[in-house]
Amino acid sequence: MKKEGFVKDYETVLKTVDGRTINALITATLRYDEEDKLCGFDAIIKDITTWKKLQEQMARADKLASVGQLAAGVAHEINNPLGIIMGYTGMLLSEDGLPPEVKEDLQTIYQNAETCKKIIEDLLKFSRQSPAKHEPVDLNALIEEVSGLLSYQIEEKEIILKKDLNEIPTTMADPDKLRQVIMNIILNAIHAVEVGGTIKVSTSHDENGFICIEISDNGHGIPEELHGRVFEPFFTTKPPGQGTGLGLAVSYGIVREHGGTITFESSRQRGTTFRVHLPVV
Ligand SMILES: Nc1ncnc2c1ncn2[C@@H]1O[C@H](COP(=O)(O)OP(=O)(O)OP(=O)(O)O)[C@@H](O)[C@H]1O
Ligand SMILES: [Mg+2]
Repeated sequence: MKKEGFVKDYETVLKTVDGRTINALITATLRYDEEDKLCGFDAIIKDITTWKKLQEQMARADKLASVGQLAAGVAHEINNPLGIIMGYTGMLLSEDGLPPEVKEDLQTIYQNAETCKKIIEDLLKFSRQSPAKHEPVDLNALIEEVSGLLSYQIEEKEIILKKDLNEIPTTMADPDKLRQVIMNIILNAIHAVEVGGTIKVSTSHDENGFICIEISDNGHGIPEELHGRVFEPFFTTKPPGQGTGLGLAVSYGIVREHGGTITFESSRQRGTTFRVHLPVV
């Protein structure tokens, strides 16, 4: 500043009088009196803390996007054989008369395959760049498919799954993404109920041209003070390793992408009901 007589857009960190640290952008010129003696400076100091944070967030999102793209290719390839491993192990596990040590080994295989699947799913969730498919989707069939995939978890916890699938029209949508939404919500319900709990899944169609999927459970419910947070990315009440807090955030994004809405009602006494409304297109 002394050399040039001014500075323009100089970025620095300052401390405010109340002790906060802020990112600042300074533009200043030196001031001289009539005798050409330096007597001070005029400066404009801009607080750019928020802008800086936003920039950092955008950079992080960019990085996540490219990691996602890279991971998606690999993850997709691993996902199918892994699904087959889990399917067959699940089938073997449900056979009667297995020697206990064989059952234990199979359980270890199943649990570890499940962990791999979870990691892959999380990676795939970040790779949403894949263009959405647009094909006729039968939501009742998707629900049947998902409940089949989750049958081992459902039986293991002795959950009563009630289905009330009514006649509904097909709608143009992305079946892979909607399958993920249904899976996320039912999985949350499975986690929320006690052993022997009940989960109900129903479908209906209203006169406004919307399909409604309702998934309710008689589990522990969501405390009122957390209602505003469940769709936040990375919000979870599950212990580390059991939930990343992305299930509902991703589901919310997918349903919105399809022009629909996702809402819920929950209380400790009655459990939780999630409703997904999708337009028939
Ligand atoms: N049916 C439900 N009953 C009770 N709490 C629920 C239910 N569904 C969601 N929640 C609450 O909302 C939180 C966020 O759910 P979300 O599916 O986004 O993440 P997660 O299940 O914790 O982890 P992830 O789905 O990524 O494995 C859960 O941790 C839980 O506290
Ligand atoms: Mg979840």
